[in-house]
Amino acid sequence: MPLRELATQRGLWIGPCVASTPLATEPAYAETLRREFNVVTPENDMKWALIHPARGRYDFARADAITGFATANGMAVHGHTLVWHNQNPAWLTSTAWPRDEAITLLREHIAAVAGHYAGTVAAWDVVNEAIANDGSLRQTPWLDWIGPDYLAIAFRAAAEADPQAKLLYNDYGAEAVNAKSDGIYRLLSDLLGAGVPVHGIGFQCHLAIDGLDIARDRASFARNLQRFAALGLELYVTEMDVRLPLPATAGSLAHQAEIYRGVLEACLAQPAFRGFQTWGFTDKYSWIPHRFLGQGAALPLDEHYRPKPAYDALRECLLAPPAAR
Ligand code: G3I
Repeated sequence: MPLRELATQRGLWIGPCVASTPLATEPAYAETLRREFNVVTPENDMKWALIHPARGRYDFARADAITGFATANGMAVHGHTLVWHNQNPAWLTSTAWPRDEAITLLREHIAAVAGHYAGTVAAWDVVNEAIANDGSLRQTPWLDWIGPDYLAIAFRAAAEADPQAKLLYNDYGAEAVNAKSDGIYRLLSDLLGAGVPVHGIGFQCHLAIDGLDIARDRASFARNLQRFAALGLELYVTEMDVRLPLPATAGSLAHQAEIYRGVLEACLAQPAFRGFQTWGFTDKYSWIPHRFLGQGAALPLDEHYRPKPAYDALRECLLAPPAAR
């Protein structure tokens, strides 16, 4: 039974980020997607630089192709992302906007994009990566222009544009209890305390076999999930991949599979867990080799769309009877 059916039976999302070019050109890509997954996230096509290329001009075509594919195949859409410090258009970042104008721009963008996808996008990464490794607010253009309340403004604007969507905060390097996840915890506690509509947290989970060892740090990951759930937030894994040195070996693939298993098992123990997403699904298309020289093979299917040990581990987790929670 494909992952899709196993996850759907448990009321969970499972699915990857999707790139519009292979979706349009490669039948095996689309076939695998619709067979194995019940949710997709556009990898790049909803980011400011691509969807808002000039002030007041929106280009929805590529993202619409992805949402159209999802809808036609009964899959949910996870939108990514409304506010980020990366992949912004030059027209936006080349001006030092006065606070009022920056707030107007942010609200206009969110109203247009979240409004366009209202009823289609079930969850939005409203704010992506706003906290630095030391737990402080990351220095971003939005922080410079508006100040710390840009986050509350963004979440409120998203709720107005799409009152049904789940509104998430999404970040990396915050899987364990550490200075960064402490900072995110403070931020989300403060926002919730002020009545700002934040519904969930996304743990990106860009991991490496020689990095965060989820087998060793499993207890810390579990404690971290627990404290965010206790705030009343839904929990999502949003961008998981586990990079390894190339070429892969039987040993490195087995180690990778155990990291995937550890993350999904810890999540399945949480009643507030809603979705498990990877950053791609086939090793044929992944950001890793472009960014980390000599590393790759980070996803559950190989470059020929064949299941790897990581796929089997995910499947076994979803097949295991739900723990008494
Ligand atoms: O579109 C241009 C193309 O015209 C040009 O020819 C080509 C030349 O390099 O670049 C293309 O843009 C690239 C874009 O992806 C689309 O493929 C950018 O160079 C490249 O930097 C960009 O990388 C994306 C990256 O975010 C940007 O920071 C990755 O595909 C995407 O997987 C990655 O995703 C992020 C999440 O959004 C947030 N969390 C981390 C994750 C991994 O970095």
